[in-house]
Amino acid sequence: MIYNHILSFRTCILWFRSSCMMAARICQLLVIIFIQISITTAQNNDREVLRAFKNDWQNTPPSWDGSDPCDGSWDGIRCTNSRVTAITLSSMKLVGGLSGDIGQLTELQILDLSYNTGLTGSLTSQIGNLKKLTNLLLVGCGFTGPIPDSIGTLERLRYLSLNSNGFTGPIPASLGNLQNLYWFDLSDNKLTGNLPVSNGSNPGLDMLTNAKHFHFGDNQLSGNIPSGLFNSNMTLIHLLFENNELTGPIPSTLGLVTSLQVVRLDRNGLTGNVPSNINNLINVTEMFLSNNRLTGLVPNLTGMNALNYLDLSNNTFGPSVVPSWFTTLRALTTLKMQSTNLGGELPAEFFSIPQLQNVDLSNNRINGTLSIGSNPSTQLQLVDLRTNQIASFTQRRQYSIDLILVDNPLCMESGVTDKYCSLPTTTNTSYSTPPNNCVSPSCSSGLVSSPNCRCAFPYMGSFFFKAPSFSSLGNSTIYISLQNQLMDFFRKANFPVDSVALNNPSRNLDDYLVINLEVFPSPGPSFNRTGIVGLGFALSNQTFKPTRDFNTYVFMSSNYDNFLPEISGTESNKSKSSNTGIIIGSAVGGCVVVVLLVVIGMYAFSRRKQPQRTSQQPQQPFANWDQTSKSTGDVPQLKGARAFTFEELKKYTNNFSEINNIGAGGYGMVYRGSLPNGQLIAIKRARQGSTQGGLEFKTEIELLSRVHHKNVVGLIGFCFDQGEQMLIYEYVVNGTLKDSLSGKSGIRLDWARRLKIALGAARGLQYLHDLADPPIIHRDVKTNNILLDDRLVAKVADFGLSKPMSGANITHITTQVKGTMVSDSFLSVCCS
Ligand SMILES: *[C@@H]1O[C@H](CO)[C@@H](O)[C@H](O)[C@H]1NC(C)=O
Ligand SMILES: *[C@@H]1O[C@H](CO)[C@@H](O)[C@H](O)[C@H]1NC(C)=O
Ligand SMILES: *[C@@H]1O[C@H](CO)[C@@H](O)[C@H](O)[C@H]1NC(C)=O
Ligand SMILES: *[C@@H]1O[C@H](CO)[C@@H](O)[C@H](O)[C@H]1NC(C)=O
Repeated sequence: MIYNHILSFRTCILWFRSSCMMAARICQLLVIIFIQISITTAQNNDREVLRAFKNDWQNTPPSWDGSDPCDGSWDGIRCTNSRVTAITLSSMKLVGGLSGDIGQLTELQILDLSYNTGLTGSLTSQIGNLKKLTNLLLVGCGFTGPIPDSIGTLERLRYLSLNSNGFTGPIPASLGNLQNLYWFDLSDNKLTGNLPVSNGSNPGLDMLTNAKHFHFGDNQLSGNIPSGLFNSNMTLIHLLFENNELTGPIPSTLGLVTSLQVVRLDRNGLTGNVPSNINNLINVTEMFLSNNRLTGLVPNLTGMNALNYLDLSNNTFGPSVVPSWFTTLRALTTLKMQSTNLGGELPAEFFSIPQLQNVDLSNNRINGTLSIGSNPSTQLQLVDLRTNQIASFTQRRQYSIDLILVDNPLCMESGVTDKYCSLPTTTNTSYSTPPNNCVSPSCSSGLVSSPNCRCAFPYMGSFFFKAPSFSSLGNSTIYISLQNQLMDFFRKANFPVDSVALNNPSRNLDDYLVINLEVFPSPGPSFNRTGIVGLGFALSNQTFKPTRDFNTYVFMSSNYDNFLPEISGTESNKSKSSNTGIIIGSAVGGCVVVVLLVVIGMYAFSRRKQPQRTSQQPQQPFANWDQTSKSTGDVPQLKGARAFTFEELKKYTNNFSEINNIGAGGYGMVYRGSLPNGQLIAIKRARQGSTQGGLEFKTEIELLSRVHHKNVVGLIGFCFDQGEQMLIYEYVVNGTLKDSLSGKSGIRLDWARRLKIALGAARGLQYLHDLADPPIIHRDVKTNNILLDDRLVAKVADFGLSKPMSGANITHITTQVKGTMVSDSFLSVCCS
């Protein structure tokens, strides 16, 4: 009894102490604010610039509310010493332009406005003032007009991604000055003109010796590929010039860039012989020279032993016979040489290349007898030899691949019915990430079931892999591997991601592999803006790097429309957004609140009745009660709470999987789950052996189901089935106050928010003390037991240790000491 007293008293004292400390902290902050205001009024252009953007743009984050973009509350803005150093606002549906004001943010290092198709107009040349810029990412926006020359003065630039906009005009030669450039992507624009090379004092792209990526595909670039563009000092690994209007021969200097791994020159107007030194490029794994007007003999690729994917189709090579390198390039997965004027017999050995998947040699002059040998590649899927001169086939019945021999002499004899003499029905290679050992719920509209069977709003978009090493899309191994790589990446980088799903892989007209991606949030049903801009940046900036078989990609995101509601326009933000008078006012108000808290606490303490020692009443054996035997009349009297079966909860938590385990305590584990309608729940599952008697459990749920208050975690239901006792609560998205105070949750709690939380928690406690019937003393108030919802409203939780205060009906009150021994960390995290 004494212990009990002491504990409750101590709890109250701690509460007062923390409140007082918060008041002290408020005063401390006030001083700091005043000092800051007096020092920084002079030099803060960055604030003005961002406020101007806020006015110019539609759909800026609601958190852009306070007056100071550098106070940490503005989503997507990072500052150092009141100067803006990073703006990451991908996928925000921003609408507007990029005004010359941006040039004043001279400390800016990262600018990522990717995936905002509503950002239009031309790119200001003022961007050239951002001398500290390292990453300029404007992927998939709506910018038009020329690329400003001034970008060539950004000496520190490492990532320049202007792909998928409407930029016109030539590539500025000045970009050759970007000595630190690593990633250079201009693809999918409307750029015209020549590829600039240096000439005397004029810069050119040949000077970019540190660049690894030239991605210029899908433009209207024209003229020759200058032989001066390549030299042996370069370290390029990906050269993507596909789908332009380049003409003339492939310069032999290309053979000097031996670091190359991917070469795409397809779909241009290139002519002449392929330079004979092309086989110097022994590290090239994917090479596309298709759809040009290349002449001469089919090139000698002997020695390019790393080649996985080779496409030489649709050129005007002179008559050649099947070259010897067909059987020596043992890494080939894919060989496409449609319409290349190839004659002679195909060696059976060719089909035994171990990873060979797809072969397209249609429309050539291949003749003689076809044999796919006794030991063809196990991955072989499609061999297209239509329109050739093959006279016979030795293995008429012993193959399991799609073989097409339509329009060959052997199919032209009358009465031929062999399968290979007609076109195969196109095989469906569709893939979609399956549920992870669970049953997908039907989600309400807009929500999508994740692989873990939770309804949520995923972040969606498409990968465009421009040169994967494989061509077979029917093998799910590749997608599972990509899923795992993505999850590993998100986990290591601490992204709030539950799972990823891939679906609908296909090859598009550019011969890119397109795969749709869905990223599911964890914990809540939605991402917040910080989550989205983080994901967007990881993909726009290529921070996520898949393995070599996928090679380079572009990710294009869809809009994300279902952000977690944010705290905006609340009193906390209003107070920030205005002048010092209001700050003082709020501070005074805050102090009043602290006093109020003290009063409430005292009141609660004084009202507290002395617990009385009673012997526990002998209880009815209650073991027979469970929610299925409703006829006993013993079913608990519940207000708004429902009974769940064990099977149901098993399903909602994916069989109480490890990943859904979100906490543990003396009584057992806490699991996260989601109801079929998408609502998230937290399930407190009593450990075997720490279950209580049926009557006690019933009393507890009856009691808890009567508690309804904004600041108290609500009970949704219970499970009393198959020997289990579980309480099902609403899931409170932002976790414990402790995690937020310690910075673990990433939520920033300024003093106004802290005050609001303290007040909310006090309201919850006061409700439990004074208004709940019967009154409840929490007996374990600590920051771990105060949860924050999506609007950072405090919710008092964990009634496992609570007990009702009751004058008359004191049947089952125990006098055990309850609560948690308070460690100093409580005070330090709260009030330091
Ligand atoms: C080619 O690849 C090998 C192994 O991947 C590597 O060691 C070598 O440096 C590469 N060659 C060039 C020129 O980059
Ligand atoms: C192809 O190149 C290899 C090595 O460079 C050489 O040994 C071979 O004779 C060449 N083949 C033809 C047909 O020129
Ligand atoms: C097959 O084609 C090659 C080259 O086009 C030719 O030299 C050879 O005689 C042809 N063989 C037959 C059996 O027609
Ligand atoms: C699927 O791909 C994996 C890895 O690339 C490979 O090991 C496996 O043999 C492939 N399976 C089939 C049926 O081609």
